[in-house]
Amino acid sequence: MFAQLFEVSMATASKAMASYVSRSFALKLPSKVCGSMAPNARFFSQNSPQLPRLPVPPLKTTLERYLRSVKPFVDEKEFKVTQALAEKFSGGVGEKLQKLLEDRAKKTENWLADWWLNSAYLEFRAPVVVFSNPGLVFPRRQISSRDEQVAHASQVISAALDFKVRLDTNQIAQEKMGPHLLDMSQYFKVLGTCRIPALKRDKLRLPDQNAPSTHIVVMHNNHFFKVNVYGDHGGPISQGQILAQLKDCVSNSKETAPPVGILTSEHRDNWAKAHEILSQSAKNKAVFDAIETCLFLVCIDGPPSPAERAAPNKFTSAALKMTHGGGSLGNSGNRWFDKTIQFVFGPDGEVGLTYEHSPAEGQPIAVMMDHIVNYCAQQPRPQQPAIKFAKPLKLQFEVKSEVSGLIEQAKTNLDKLVDDLEMYSFAYTGYGKEYIKSQKLSPDSYVQMAIQYAFYRLHNVPGAHYESAATRRFIHGRTETIRSCSSESIKFAQTMLDGGASANEKASTLRSAIKAHKDYATLALAGEGVDRHFLGLRLIATENQIELPEFFKDAAFTRSSYMRLSTSQVAGRSESFMCYGPLVPDGYACCYNPRANDIIFGTSAHNSCSETSARNFASALEESFTDMQRILNLSPLAKL
Ligand code: COA
Repeated sequence: MFAQLFEVSMATASKAMASYVSRSFALKLPSKVCGSMAPNARFFSQNSPQLPRLPVPPLKTTLERYLRSVKPFVDEKEFKVTQALAEKFSGGVGEKLQKLLEDRAKKTENWLADWWLNSAYLEFRAPVVVFSNPGLVFPRRQISSRDEQVAHASQVISAALDFKVRLDTNQIAQEKMGPHLLDMSQYFKVLGTCRIPALKRDKLRLPDQNAPSTHIVVMHNNHFFKVNVYGDHGGPISQGQILAQLKDCVSNSKETAPPVGILTSEHRDNWAKAHEILSQSAKNKAVFDAIETCLFLVCIDGPPSPAERAAPNKFTSAALKMTHGGGSLGNSGNRWFDKTIQFVFGPDGEVGLTYEHSPAEGQPIAVMMDHIVNYCAQQPRPQQPAIKFAKPLKLQFEVKSEVSGLIEQAKTNLDKLVDDLEMYSFAYTGYGKEYIKSQKLSPDSYVQMAIQYAFYRLHNVPGAHYESAATRRFIHGRTETIRSCSSESIKFAQTMLDGGASANEKASTLRSAIKAHKDYATLALAGEGVDRHFLGLRLIATENQIELPEFFKDAAFTRSSYMRLSTSQVAGRSESFMCYGPLVPDGYACCYNPRANDIIFGTSAHNSCSETSARNFASALEESFTDMQRILNLSPLAKL
């Protein structure tokens, strides 16, 4: 995941979004592990030039698609107003903006990339926790002691380093989606990147290709330790050596330290101010530097928070841990939410990660997770010969009383977010992708329509619905929005709820809704969606001080981009799933991992909204899947 919807942030300042991928991104790894650290700079550029540039679709075509997409949200009269505005826009200022955008596209490798990074992430001021950072829950580990918790952490660290070595030595083949080669540059921003707070717009510190990082940072009881994980031979140290270092960290942090890390969960401007104060100390600057440049963070957590203990099931308690850490009474001080990857290990076998979204989409993260889960399954790992390694270095912040006050404030603010986020994660076990494919239907589109149906049966109104589609077939491509709510999806939901409709009618509207979704998804994957094009037109208008036309302010535009459903597919082979918060106050997030015979969901809603409930949404989803299968079984294809 999960990218923030610029339209929504402008309209509601609510939330950023996440999502992921997918079995299409399988790693093609040789079985032999290579241990040297080769420069990977060439991957930043090498794979991309051969890829096409993200297109700017013709304005008229986008407007036609847009008009189709807004129909569920307006009545006839409002639609006519929107049509007239679209015509006026197309023949007037729209033409000028289109020309400016096309000019930009000629001069840049990807006309959207920088804009997207800034507007969707770095300029977004809401906390990254809940509003932007997704959690990724790995399969739970059977453990019964702190020693086992730490031992498993050492194994995951080894696996992640193994993944890094493969990246560095170009052992990861360029991925393809169908016939299209995909841009790989995101892979090289996942390990070693950190977001840094600044007023108005944060910064991103990418890995330094000339000085590759060789350390990780371990957190325990809110303490930070710099742990070197590469030996003199230039490759990662052994798992046994990592374990020894972790044990050293744990035994040197028995008392809880002030939760400086909780500041990273603050509103970005608040955090920027605190960061500036902390940076006045040279000692603190060195700690920042160690965190920013480390390959990844490792959080060895203490007991779960009250919220996690009260969670309805184990999937959900792990989702809470990976999303926010449980707040000030949990482990949220044992985090650095600005770090791109922080692995989290709970005392009850919860394993996963929290990731900061700005440098990359979920693909590389999901692929890395698959690699880690596979690697850990190959027990016992052979121990490498002893190699010299440095002892962990305890990193200590100097915390003035002013900062202590800000930490208290951050705790209060985070606790409000934590209290307001309702998560509900579950596995739907009735069937999975195989059944859907057997019906000659697209699994992803099918799940999307189940989500549409669940929303409609709960709320009886169309739910504007965001799904991410990867645009990585283009150089530096990231995502486009699939507008999953369509006239067809609403017709389908209404027919399903119509007691008088026959099974054949229901099945037929289901198939039409799935087709409409698949058609839009195909366009989005080709960079031909509506939302990024409109974003480009609006940003080019701002850059050129051209007033935004009425077209971008009417009911159709506002309602169709107020995404009450923020969804994403993140597929993995293991029993894993991604989770994040909703985009809007009265919305839902729904991330899913469709596997052969089940589908795992991470859903969420806000407790402060009396209309929504993640638990009810999850039940409605289960009912939808059951209904849809029943209808399809009653109406085999041949009968339609
Ligand atoms: N009949 C039978 N099988 C079908 C079918 C049909 N009508 N339609 C599709 N299938 C098959 C496909 O061939 C595919 O088979 P495979 O698993 O053997 O390869 C499988 O079903 C899945 O296809 P589908 O569900 O249609 O699409 P998808 O899994 O490719 O997912 C997107 C679609 C849009 C989610 C995906 O393309 C994408 O963009 N993912 C990335 C999203 C992203 O970037 N997220 C990150 C944001 S942070």
